[in-house]
Amino acid sequence: MIKAVTGTKDILPSDIPRWKYLEKTVERVFASFNYKEIRTPIFEETALFARGIGEETDIVGKEMYSFTDRSDTSLTLKPEMTAAVVRAYLEHSLGAQQPLVKLFYMSPMFRQERPQAGRFRQFHQFGAEAIGSKSPLLDVEMIQMAYEILKSLGLKNLTVKINSLGTPETRENYKKLLKEFLEDKKNKLSEDSRRRFETNILRIFDSKVESDQKIIKDAPKLVDHLDEESKADFEVVKDQLAKYEIPFEIDPALVRGLDYYTKLTFEIDSGSVGAQTALCGGGRYDLLIETLGGKPTLATGFAAGIERILLACENEKSFTVPVQSIDVYLVRISDELESFVSEIAGKLRKENLLVDFDYLQRSVKAQMREANKLNAKYVLFIGGDEYKEGLMNLKNMSNGVEEKIKFDKVDTIISKLRS
Ligand code: HAM
Repeated sequence: MIKAVTGTKDILPSDIPRWKYLEKTVERVFASFNYKEIRTPIFEETALFARGIGEETDIVGKEMYSFTDRSDTSLTLKPEMTAAVVRAYLEHSLGAQQPLVKLFYMSPMFRQERPQAGRFRQFHQFGAEAIGSKSPLLDVEMIQMAYEILKSLGLKNLTVKINSLGTPETRENYKKLLKEFLEDKKNKLSEDSRRRFETNILRIFDSKVESDQKIIKDAPKLVDHLDEESKADFEVVKDQLAKYEIPFEIDPALVRGLDYYTKLTFEIDSGSVGAQTALCGGGRYDLLIETLGGKPTLATGFAAGIERILLACENEKSFTVPVQSIDVYLVRISDELESFVSEIAGKLRKENLLVDFDYLQRSVKAQMREANKLNAKYVLFIGGDEYKEGLMNLKNMSNGVEEKIKFDKVDTIISKLRS
């Protein structure tokens, strides 16, 4: 039997109510901050991500699902949304219509990572991008929205971590400092970190190897070497977070796995999901729009992993969804009435009521079992002596009260079910 591909997961009908609850919460919070939804294609030209995310990143270097199509174009299933949103922003000149464009999304993403709890190869993100302003208040808005969504889902065990990566010039100066510091310790670093020393030295902070961590712990910190503007913006973020009563930690090692970040970066971690603790991450990306061919435009954003959040919610039992039910289940007492039952069901369904009946020629007892399983609020019995008199029997399942209804009085049922 063919099974789902490693690292992918079916979202079964029993999972859907929790997904819907999360999606509604996300939409509500984004709407209250006036973000508008955008949907972009599942695949893009590979160059978009290679250029946008950075050739030296793990995502571009080893995790992308890239393929060549029949016209010899290299395409990639999107590993993240920011580059795709910027592409759409530029392609449709969204900035010409509005100086600040605030967008949100929910979509599947694809990365060929080693699967484990909370880490998949097809996963889903929701996120937001605000393109067109340098205001650090927008950086705060990202943290605020992410925090508000997680809190609304009832999550408690959260840690907000922030850092500033400064401007590219600051970062270049700092990289020199870091290089000097690591020069004579280079040989003690892991192979990966030795490679990063040459290609992307900041990413050494991402290393999970303990001996690397020991070395890097005493390294000079970027937050202590910020330019004046980045420093001032970082102060605004800290002050504003305190005003919103969002507790946070400064994490100088928070360099993030994508190359486009400048100034503020942040993550929100959960203590309830095992090894993969980051529920969301984001930050400012003031140079990406230029990198992708636009004119200099300042921007900030974040994205969150839905599977990981739902896992945290499950582990914390942070919310429950109402038990699913249907409005009415039609029970057929005499077998020959199948088509009449279907006709009545059709009339009720036209009124947008949630209606079902038996398609398996089951006994009355089995039909009743099904009605109970579906948590039917009412059961409508059709058949027997009543049928000959032109009547049906409507039973209210919460109090057991029964009422006879004429065939041509389906309206009575509708008004009862609506009351
Ligand atoms: P990211 O940190 O790569 O950022 O991903 C954001 C979130 O997606 C992570 O915190 C995690 O919850 C989830 N995630 C990532 N990879 C996986 C995976 N393999 N399985 C399950 N969940 C995963 C970005 O994607 C940036 N585009 C965020 C951003 C938007 N920055 C600015 N704007």
